[in-house]
Amino acid sequence: MSPTITLQQRMAMHNANRLKIGLFGANCSSGRAVTLVPERWSGAWPDNLRLARMADDAGLDFMLPIARWKGYGGDTDYQGATLETLTWATGLLAATKRLTVFGTVHAPLFHPIIAAKQIVTADHVGQGRFGLNIVIGWNEDEFDMFGATTRDQETRYAHGQEWIDAVKRIWSDEEDFDIDGEFFHFKKVRGKPKPYGGSRPLIMNAGASPVGHAYAMRNCDAYFTQVDRDSVEKSAAIVQKAKDDARALGRALDVYGVGVVTLKSTQKKADEYYRHCVIDHADWNAVDLILAKKKISPQTVGAEQHHKQRMGYAQGMGGLAIVGDPDRVAQILINLASAGLRGIGISFVNYLDELPYFLDEILPRLERAGLRERRPQD
Ligand SMILES: Cc1cc2nc3c(=O)[nH]c(=O)nc-3n(C[C@H](O)[C@H](O)[C@H](O)COP(=O)(O)O)c2cc1C
Repeated sequence: MSPTITLQQRMAMHNANRLKIGLFGANCSSGRAVTLVPERWSGAWPDNLRLARMADDAGLDFMLPIARWKGYGGDTDYQGATLETLTWATGLLAATKRLTVFGTVHAPLFHPIIAAKQIVTADHVGQGRFGLNIVIGWNEDEFDMFGATTRDQETRYAHGQEWIDAVKRIWSDEEDFDIDGEFFHFKKVRGKPKPYGGSRPLIMNAGASPVGHAYAMRNCDAYFTQVDRDSVEKSAAIVQKAKDDARALGRALDVYGVGVVTLKSTQKKADEYYRHCVIDHADWNAVDLILAKKKISPQTVGAEQHHKQRMGYAQGMGGLAIVGDPDRVAQILINLASAGLRGIGISFVNYLDELPYFLDEILPRLERAGLRERRPQD
């Protein structure tokens, strides 16, 4: 018999850290930095494995991959080589002890009965440490590759609702049930074993449109959203609104942000490296292809907004730029925690090269601020 694990323990990622810190995007070549610099991230398995073990030993909380089926092109074919996330997560869960590892599932592409079982398998390998990132939206050309039916936003999210309802039912104690919905027609469905420890896996979502936000409020435990670059008050308002929206549905919700970290011993060095990677040596051809895919051009959004978006996408496909010396980087994280964020998924240009300095300099500062426990000792 496996020990009982509650959903609250899963949401706490099995520890008492008040600010959860995870690594975002390491399963993709170039990670989240659209850059030409030669030290950019490989995304290869040996590097992922070393990174996960380093993160696990240091007591970081999670790893969150990106499900990408086709690179963006440009000079580096940005995110052109990616490890499939459920198999990646299962491998990393087998090689670690504490980390929560997410798998990212595009609901329109995965049959829910197969996905439910793949997730349960990963969850057993990780003894309750698997998390599901459910993605409903898509890049059109990726889905064309699959011959997947194109649906409008509303219908996509309606399909996503039936999908997650089916998966949760398969994980429950119900057996031999029929589903006769708008999208799925299944007979005598059963799935065994159940998820590890008597509770279902943690579910995250990052729906940003009104229908996506509503979906997240109804279904997820961890909501990833954009916080304000400059104002703690504005970030706090964003976090509070999401929590209130969930509470109105009788649900508890943790809110997470996304950050792109450039940490050096001085502010000047950090500013210079940031400029070097994501301005002087950005893969601008890839950036322009990403923007074109999202129909962001001077014609559609105006010249000023286009320029802003171009800069934002070069530095990490959106997300908060956290650039500074250790005191400044730690202070930004402390401010995000005080705005109510439960955690943050961060990325680096080269995760393995840059993480040790982050662990040595930032974790002790967050411990002193009461936001994190001491690093594990074993
Ligand atoms: C932290 C985070 C992780 C995401 N992961 C993926 C992903 O792996 N694959 C993907 O196609 N979209 C991913 N997305 C996109 C969201 O799932 C979502 O589609 C997007 O924020 C737009 O919202 P909408 O679908 O409501 O328009 C991610 C977004 C965020 C902020």
